[in-house]
Amino acid sequence: MPEGRITERFLEERRAAARISCPPTLVPAPGQYLLAYNPASNDPLAVAVFSASPLADGFLAASSLPAAWTPGTSIHLRGPLGRGFALPAAARRVALVADDVPPAYLLGLLPLALKQDAAISLVCNNPPEDLPNDVEIRPMAALEEICHWADYLALAVTREGWRARVGNSRALKVPREAQVLIVAPMPCGGLAKCGVCSVEISEESFLACEDGPVFTL
Ligand code: FES
Repeated sequence: MPEGRITERFLEERRAAARISCPPTLVPAPGQYLLAYNPASNDPLAVAVFSASPLADGFLAASSLPAAWTPGTSIHLRGPLGRGFALPAAARRVALVADDVPPAYLLGLLPLALKQDAAISLVCNNPPEDLPNDVEIRPMAALEEICHWADYLALAVTREGWRARVGNSRALKVPREAQVLIVAPMPCGGLAKCGVCSVEISEESFLACEDGPVFTL
């Protein structure tokens, strides 16, 4: 199995949780994930790792990692897996909404949106400090207003947050082009059909690992 290595950990996880070196073919696209585990650990459960930004020698990881994965730790990586975000080429007003997860989960979309000259609003209550000047920061209280403004919306939320805040797509008046990344434990990545990652979208049940983790609203 291809190997990666933790090269840095960050205390502040709004921008990224860690730096991981790995072959470029493993770097997940925005919304996709890798399954990572430490072969030297007694914990057999794999961790889903998302990218906040690609780097020349790997990527910045958006996901929280086990505390024992200190710099220098070798990890096994499988992926990229799952369906990621698909930013429409025509989108000119892009809203990135980090509900109850760090905004890092959505930052991989920034260069793509900037490349197509889109105006960008990052909606969250704890934004990172080092964002490009072109990115407007708005609080979660402005979500409804931003939903009217945007022509594409990408939402990132835990499964619990999804149940509590949205419930189903009819509860939030999203733009016509909208996607949601459901952040849930995905220990098998679909291999064992464990069902741990099951999620309900519009009253239908899905596996986040295989059917998502990004869903169209
Ligand atoms: S993580 Fe096991 S089925 Fe999705």
